[in-house]
Amino acid sequence: MIVKPADRTGNVQEYYFSQKLAQIDRMRAEGSDVINLGIGSPDQPPSENTVSTLAAEARKPTSHGYQSYTGIPALRKAFSEWYKKYFRVDLNPDDEILLLMGSKEGIMHISMAYVNPGDEVLIPDPGYPTYSSVTTLVGGIVRKYDLREENGWLPDLDSLEKSDLSKVKLMWINYPHMPTGAKASMDIFRKLIAFSQKHRILLCNDNPYSFILNNEYISLLSVDGAKETALELNSLSKSHNMAGWRIGMVAGHCDYIKTILRVKSNMDSGMFLGMQMAAVEALNNPESWYITVNSVYARRRKIVEEIMDLLHCSYDKSQIGLFVWGRIPESIPDCESYIEDILEKSKVFITPGFIFGDNGKRYIRISLCANEKRLTEAKGRLVKLKG
Ligand SMILES: Cc1ncc(COP(=O)(O)O)c(C=O)c1O
Repeated sequence: MIVKPADRTGNVQEYYFSQKLAQIDRMRAEGSDVINLGIGSPDQPPSENTVSTLAAEARKPTSHGYQSYTGIPALRKAFSEWYKKYFRVDLNPDDEILLLMGSKEGIMHISMAYVNPGDEVLIPDPGYPTYSSVTTLVGGIVRKYDLREENGWLPDLDSLEKSDLSKVKLMWINYPHMPTGAKASMDIFRKLIAFSQKHRILLCNDNPYSFILNNEYISLLSVDGAKETALELNSLSKSHNMAGWRIGMVAGHCDYIKTILRVKSNMDSGMFLGMQMAAVEALNNPESWYITVNSVYARRRKIVEEIMDLLHCSYDKSQIGLFVWGRIPESIPDCESYIEDILEKSKVFITPGFIFGDNGKRYIRISLCANEKRLTEAKGRLVKLKG
């Protein structure tokens, strides 16, 4: 084209799933019944109160104007009470919580607010690909740190300590961890906070999976003194079946929040009041609501484990979150072509682990966001393929 894109676009690629979903759409348009077990987009609905509040608010003529840049006070208060109830963390709703359009955009805002060109950013491998692409877009230097199965997929702080950390500005952690389903512990959170304070690194925990197949909710912000160096992202996408709504938040010390707001308030102009009022309802769902949602995931997980067994993958039965992560057998030379072959022959899409980094190369990830009928159908197709 006559007009050249900005240089920064040359350093990132279209998101893997954006390309893959387009391929799946093409296959479906050509008549293939593709079962997508790739993506973690919850298919169960939000609570009834959430949806009815949205509808009622949308009918009011007064609901449609611009809203506050930080989110309406009622929603910040609801997030604060939710954090207190489940994570035992005190957050001042006035200045320690900033509403986001999903946690994904928070990754960009935090990076824009804190990473200068040339600053290094510690990013988990395997990990959510957005941490790397956003770091690159803002001119930061991606510095992957290894997570390994034998270490419970937790960072090896001793080995990091031995390296030069003088240029590191920001470190991403994500517990419960995607894609491995590993949990952190208060002990590792305490060590991470001490590490971030010693090296003056902003430590950010991306925490959208705590409520899925997990009954021990912990937050990085509950460590004493955490607010000096730590932020936490959270979101209603997975926990409340509201991925398409785009509602999340970042929490932390008011000075950090103010700085992030300086970036964000130049990018959007608040979020529809109806969605915010509905999100308040979602956060007030009784605990039994999460239990019901999880009982569905638990039944699905059994079928996904059977699929893993069928594929001779090894996996940890205690993992949590929206996926099952499994190691492919040594007899398979290349995971990517293995996945492509399954897609082509069985019309079942499974995520190859390499998209999460080098340490994911020998793994696959299967989503629990398909109903039991579809999962059983997928299993049947794979039985035939293996047949
Ligand atoms: C680790 C991780 N962080 C963030 C997100 C984005 O979530 P949200 O919908 O809140 O933007 C995802 C979504 O898949 C994720 O897996």
